[in-house]
Amino acid sequence: MYLSDFGKKLAEQSGIQQLMDDLGQPIPEGVKSYQLGGGNPARVPEVEKAYRLETEKLLSRSDDFENAIARYDTPQGRVSFIETLSAFFKREYGWDIGPENIAITNGSQSAFFFLFNMFSGTFSQPGKEPLKKTVVFPLVPEYVGYADQGIEKDTFVGIPAKCVYYPDNTFKYFIDFDALETYLEKHREVGAMCVSRPTNPTGNVLTNDEIRHLSALAYKYNIPLFVDNAYGLPFPNIIFTEDAKPYWDSSVILSMSLSKIGLPSLRTGIVVAKPELIKALASVNSIVALASGSLGQVISQDLFATGKMKTLAESYVRPFYQQKSLFAQSCFKEYFAGTNYSVHKSEGAIFNWILMNDLKIPTKELYVKLKDQGVITVPGEYFFFGTPEHEHYDKCLRINYSRPEDEVREGIRIIAETYKKFSK
Ligand SMILES: Cc1ncc(COP(=O)(O)O)c(C=O)c1O
Repeated sequence: MYLSDFGKKLAEQSGIQQLMDDLGQPIPEGVKSYQLGGGNPARVPEVEKAYRLETEKLLSRSDDFENAIARYDTPQGRVSFIETLSAFFKREYGWDIGPENIAITNGSQSAFFFLFNMFSGTFSQPGKEPLKKTVVFPLVPEYVGYADQGIEKDTFVGIPAKCVYYPDNTFKYFIDFDALETYLEKHREVGAMCVSRPTNPTGNVLTNDEIRHLSALAYKYNIPLFVDNAYGLPFPNIIFTEDAKPYWDSSVILSMSLSKIGLPSLRTGIVVAKPELIKALASVNSIVALASGSLGQVISQDLFATGKMKTLAESYVRPFYQQKSLFAQSCFKEYFAGTNYSVHKSEGAIFNWILMNDLKIPTKELYVKLKDQGVITVPGEYFFFGTPEHEHYDKCLRINYSRPEDEVREGIRIIAETYKKFSK
């Protein structure tokens, strides 16, 4: 089979595909499993109850269910849903937006595939040499799911995070704004910037000041700033810090998702941006998918109309994950005591990011040794893309802390024991 460059890029082995395949492989027979690897959210009972109720209402109302499943929505999204959402954002945050500012995609992952390739790669210019544009990631390590999404080669550039260490075995990454600004000044071919907020894998949450600083740079260089709000505000609100507020302005392309608030299988991504971008995104969506799936939009619409989605996030989702994160941190303290380790400040998202300074094997190898014992994690190397080597490159693991307590505790204990075995 001969594939085009596009086909090769997407169909041949990529880091993320290898990882996803491996995560899905059975662990050795008879070994108990500790699933601290993938990005699946937990099941939060109050949230599930709300979706069940909405589904029952849908089924009980004349032919609403049939209407929901039997027709394509527009490529931009379901008209009543995007109207409801724009009213919600306007009412709650005073954003100057209407339905023309919102598009729905089949999950936010596909929104990023579209966006990266709309703003990077070859740009033809009449009468001039074509320009090759890039996307800059201001805070690397960054979400592994972006790493292979650019179709053209070498279009992703990462700015390595600065790091501050604290005495209580914690640390935190910061954007190196000097390095970022120098890079933007010297590289006018940058086509966009992208951050996840909260950051997958580290649990970092950029403050409003940091987001405003990035947005001002985006404005200055006339490029969009993609803000990936998959774990953010106002839903699912897996944010434990105080100085983060929902943020949108016309330089920002804000991506949201219903996945981490309990609907990952319904594939509902939400993009808020300038109308011209929304129009372009809807055109791409029509070519790739005709339309996005309707069920997530239908089931959640009234929850946005009444504001209940925000309350569910605030009252149930955030406390649920915060408690789980605190529990995981207590396990790190207990089992890693006496070793040279540090955990990234847990400010949000569903992961802990642990740095093991004395590890004498790369984390890709540690991952295999852990998997043999039933513990699934994600090795840190995958999250350092587009950047020259970072000092943490092969010393970190991403751990999903949202599993039941016994599983998280035993998983962390095994990780700590294995680290001790393979320490310098
Ligand atoms: C940071 C981040 N962005 C985007 C996504 C994609 O989510 P979805 O396509 O389910 O909306 C994920 C999924 O784990 C994620 O962690």
